[in-house]
Amino acid sequence: MEQKATKKGFGSKIGFILAATGSAIGLGNIWRFPYLVAKYGGGAFVLVYLLSIAIIGSVVMIAEMYIGKRAKTNNADAYGKTNKWLKWVGLLSIAVPFLIACYYVVIGGWSTKYVFNYAFLPNFLQGTTSEIAFTNFITDKISPIFYMTIFLIISIFIVCGGVEKGIEKASKILMPILFILLIIVVIKALTLGSGVKEGIKFYVGTVDFAKLGWKGAVTALGQGFFSLSLGMGVMVAYGSYSNSKTNLGKSALAVCILDTFIALFAGFAIFPTMFALGNGPALAETAGAGLIFIVLPQLFESMSGGHIFAIMFFMLITFAAITSVISLIEVVSQYTISRYKLSRKKATVYIGSIIGFIAIFISLSQGAVNYTIFGYDFLTYLDELTNILIMPLGAIFSCIAVGWCIKPKSVFEELGAMQSKFKGQNLWMFMLRFITPLLILFILIMGIIDKFAWAKENGLNYVYVLLGGLIMLIVTLLINYRLNKMSINQQEIDKPLE
Ligand code: PHE
Repeated sequence: MEQKATKKGFGSKIGFILAATGSAIGLGNIWRFPYLVAKYGGGAFVLVYLLSIAIIGSVVMIAEMYIGKRAKTNNADAYGKTNKWLKWVGLLSIAVPFLIACYYVVIGGWSTKYVFNYAFLPNFLQGTTSEIAFTNFITDKISPIFYMTIFLIISIFIVCGGVEKGIEKASKILMPILFILLIIVVIKALTLGSGVKEGIKFYVGTVDFAKLGWKGAVTALGQGFFSLSLGMGVMVAYGSYSNSKTNLGKSALAVCILDTFIALFAGFAIFPTMFALGNGPALAETAGAGLIFIVLPQLFESMSGGHIFAIMFFMLITFAAITSVISLIEVVSQYTISRYKLSRKKATVYIGSIIGFIAIFISLSQGAVNYTIFGYDFLTYLDELTNILIMPLGAIFSCIAVGWCIKPKSVFEELGAMQSKFKGQNLWMFMLRFITPLLILFILIMGIIDKFAWAKENGLNYVYVLLGGLIMLIVTLLINYRLNKMSINQQEIDKPLE
């Protein structure tokens, strides 16, 4: 086949780093991180977050990239190559990106719509408040689905282009634009005049450990995890496309630093804007969608040149979301391509269509149609299922796969690039085997306990989310069992990456 002649991975080290960073930098950095900092005691939260990136995030990221780089195949077989009873982890790490993609594209559609609004319908808020405008939009039957489709088609198009000509190229274009947009947005925010100082003071000047508490600390640990796209196979898939010259230790470090830097930096756009134009402390604790689509549009309205600022801001969000969604789709496409022997285009269009189909229901469940899963709206249910349960579980098993199923000596040999050794490998291995998985287990347990209380407060039952997780676990274990029985798969596994 012609695949032999063409290289199928990333064309350059920087391309690999930018693509992985693109996956990591997403809604988590721009809307979730600043809000969490405000909620959980400012600098105290940042401190625990940084610790979590250092002792959990970076450790798991190297391990996941390594699992991929070593196997050069899809996630299920990549985990299977560490131990044939770990294929289920790979399968889970294909199912999770698929599920996340189904709701991430809905939100991507929202921000695409806001770019359009500000670019072509500058008066879209007139006569109504940003809150009503947003609620009307997301509870509409057609409009959010239309914009979700546009967002999804762009993402599918990029993934169809392939790893080097699609994902790498898009990352090389979108990531620098994203950095520049963020810098402009921050500069604008910092020059809004009165209130800016208070905003910055609120953001970096408070270190309140009492406000952080246990809950904040555990949230900080989990956030580090989500923000780095860990525990869901993305870094495994991207690692499988890295070339032999790539030093995984250094690459992972670069991704961790860039991702953290952008999260911290985004705070300098959000807080000064809020304090300059509104009731800072009250607004600062507005979460997620409310912050981005309701509070900020309100502020943009009252700002001179606010529309231009708004276009840039929502482009920033949209680009951040696209580079994350393509990584999610890629994981599923990669598996479909190698397992069902489909061409990249076909596999990606099929997968993308199924994601789009499910996303329609998720979009409708935002209010247009009144249906729920066990009382949860679809978006919340999937978010809970993936973030709180499956991702930490996946990450624990990534640690086990590399730390316990492969000889450290061969890990070290394969980890560094030819000339550049990975310094600190012994410390890393120690963390990977003992400390990191235990810490993640702790996050997992604390997260579940906390969620039970949260669900109860909201009149929901968290057992149903656990049930969803259990079903996914059982199904993937059964497939693992079946795959092991069909021993022809051995040849399949040993085949190089397509
Ligand atoms: N890391 C992304 C963020 O911070 C989220 C994401 C998770 C992206 C999983 C891809 C895969 O928003």
